[in-house]
Amino acid sequence: MSLPGGRAASAPLLGHEIEPTIFELSVHGRSAYQLRTTDVPAIPLSDFIPAEHLAPKRVALAEVSERDLVGHFTRLSHRQFSVDLGAYPLGSCTMKYNPKFCDAVAADPGLNSVHPGVPASLSQGWLELLVTLEHKLCVITGMAAATLQPAAGAAGELTGLLLMRAYHGANGDLRKRILIPDSAHGTNPASVTLGGYEVTTIPSNDRGLVDLAALKAALGPDVAGIMLTNPNTLGLFEEEIVEIAAAVHAVGGLLYYDGANLNAILGVIRPGDMGFDIVHMNLHKTFATPHGGGGPGAGPVAVSPRLVEFLPGPRAACRDDGSYYWETSERSIGRVHGWHGNSMVLARALAYIDVHGGDGLTRVAQHAVLNANWLRERLRETLPAAYDRVCMHECVLTATWLKNAYGVRGLDVAKGLLEEGFHSPTVYFPLIVDEALMFEPTETESVQTLESLAASIERIAVRAKTDTDGLHHAPQTTPVSRVDEARAARQLIATEDAADR
Ligand SMILES: Cc1ncc(COP(=O)(O)O)c(C=O)c1O
Repeated sequence: MSLPGGRAASAPLLGHEIEPTIFELSVHGRSAYQLRTTDVPAIPLSDFIPAEHLAPKRVALAEVSERDLVGHFTRLSHRQFSVDLGAYPLGSCTMKYNPKFCDAVAADPGLNSVHPGVPASLSQGWLELLVTLEHKLCVITGMAAATLQPAAGAAGELTGLLLMRAYHGANGDLRKRILIPDSAHGTNPASVTLGGYEVTTIPSNDRGLVDLAALKAALGPDVAGIMLTNPNTLGLFEEEIVEIAAAVHAVGGLLYYDGANLNAILGVIRPGDMGFDIVHMNLHKTFATPHGGGGPGAGPVAVSPRLVEFLPGPRAACRDDGSYYWETSERSIGRVHGWHGNSMVLARALAYIDVHGGDGLTRVAQHAVLNANWLRERLRETLPAAYDRVCMHECVLTATWLKNAYGVRGLDVAKGLLEEGFHSPTVYFPLIVDEALMFEPTETESVQTLESLAASIERIAVRAKTDTDGLHHAPQTTPVSRVDEARAARQLIATEDAADR
């Protein structure tokens, strides 16, 4: 019997069969939703939207039942590694387990059913939440005020650079260069260019830290500021930060702290005390939202007193009588988000801060640093550290000897780990380390899990000699085996047109 269109898909696809795309499951006329009937009359879209902005033809969306929709995404989720599934030591990205309590708070209908356009008088609870979160983030970073609008770390960086531009501009002092260490995250130079500045790269010294002499030589009256991550992307603490801050301030420059990851310093040291003027934080790393595929992020930017008047607006504020309102200062750089930021990420962050409390946050940092150092020491003979020093929340190891001895590269080790049941570490970053493998075990993994991770890496090192070819093709036991990453990036097919089906 022939059936109309659409494929069937069911649990057997959990094997090695490829999950169909949602379009392959589509059958014309099926629907996963039902709209309520109302007595509001239907009005043609063209009455609201000028004809030139309307799509010329109906967009071909997949038509599937609720049952097929749920099945499709559930099967896909079972083929993925996730923070809830196991250890995810992806350095720099902080994929730590997040307390479900924070999700429960964000799922509260009292929070998530409020439209962001609702006037302040009707959303006092939300404004209180935002004011409280801003205050707590300022306490954590040692800053005076913050904007919660930026939607991610890179958006926070751009906001910070626009703040620098506004500050220097207000002093009639247009400057053109931003200094960035060669170990910096790639978003830093990209944001500098977007912000209309030029990058001057500062080399690292043989200890993996900013070369202070090179930094001083690069300073001048045209330097608008410096962007630094501390601990830096090698997982090392910039010990000369106070001297760096003094040197940059001496030429009238500002210091930007890339606080994408605060896991090493929470409750231990504050960027404000190190001399920084601007800090962005990735709430989607440190404060209960997973980074990357886990959904939207939030990159609040906190500033020192002299930059407060330039912060994006509107910001939630509290009157003396305890009521809340929106305010925008006269010299504000304006909005950096359509509304008030990715609010559910903000709600989760406040829940995370409150559920841990001050002491709890300090313990988060202490355990994150302890775990990274435990792993670094445990793997000393198998994968040595690129810089043999105490690290902070992450450690950068190198697979150079495996490459030289057996032709097994860092990427092969990382892919081999997937077969062992662990997510891969970050590979080939920072760029200044050969065959870099950056592990961030995070504070949420137990010593038993770390031991098991280390034992897996030791097994892979043995395999490098005995099963070199197998490692070159790893992972082979996962639903998706080794993909050609260069081809996947260069021949990206991200849309499916009905005409192609
Ligand atoms: C050090 C550092 N800076 C900036 C970013 C950018 O953050 P986002 O991915 O949210 O834009 C990241 C992200 O991983 C990072 O690790």
